[in-house]
Amino acid sequence: MTTGPDPDLAEQQRTHWQHTYTDHPRMYGHAPSSPAVHAAAVFADAGAQDVLELGAGHGRDALHFSRAGFRVTATDVSQSGLAQLQQDAEAQQLTGRLATMAHDVRDSLPLASASVDGVFAHMLLCMALSTTQITALVAEVARVLRPGGTFVYTVRHTGDAHYGAGTSHGDDIFEHGGFAVHFFSRELVERLARGWELDEVHAFEEGDLPRRLWRITQRRPR
Ligand SMILES: C[S@@+](CC[C@H](N)C(=O)[O-])C[C@H]1O[C@@H](n2cnc3c(N)ncnc32)[C@H](O)[C@@H]1O
Repeated sequence: MTTGPDPDLAEQQRTHWQHTYTDHPRMYGHAPSSPAVHAAAVFADAGAQDVLELGAGHGRDALHFSRAGFRVTATDVSQSGLAQLQQDAEAQQLTGRLATMAHDVRDSLPLASASVDGVFAHMLLCMALSTTQITALVAEVARVLRPGGTFVYTVRHTGDAHYGAGTSHGDDIFEHGGFAVHFFSRELVERLARGWELDEVHAFEEGDLPRRLWRITQRRPR
């Protein structure tokens, strides 16, 4: 198994995201992403109350979850993204039920076991993370979810136009225009769903490129 990208790449990506949000505030806009709209409906159907978002960026989706009535913890490695989220949460009077936390998903999740009902991560697992790091992260998601809890995540996949383009860092990670992406194979998705109930792998597109993604919904057994 590949151990994954050079640790310097992860550090360089952290700096890159920090500058990206500073130079392009609220770059993803104010509207929630389509996977977040879907996830909010799935979480509500399941009676979820506590939601964790990983890689929340400047928070277009965390704000949506909060407005939908969930108690939200939003994490990201970028302080500048989270500062914009915090500002918007204050302006929308959501701070009572939305907490932000700077956190690198290469580390253990800063939450107690079985403490949330839903976890959401849009384009986070496909960052500059090795397969080993992604596998450890999904185990951490299973730990913090209550039994029956739902994990909705999206990733760019090997059918994306940028798969194979730019600088290769091994382990299906390619860097293009300064952004490093781990392109997921279907086999990796299936492997990460072992021990879970895999509800859905839904293909969709986002942005102008367009980015080609899968939205995966999997549940912890009760
Ligand atoms: C493609 S952006 C998506 C942002 C947000 N989910 C959205 O769709 O608006 C990926 C996010 O992952 C964050 N990120 C990258 N590597 C990370 C890591 N190791 N730990 C935590 N967050 C990370 C970046 O700072 C960035 O906000």
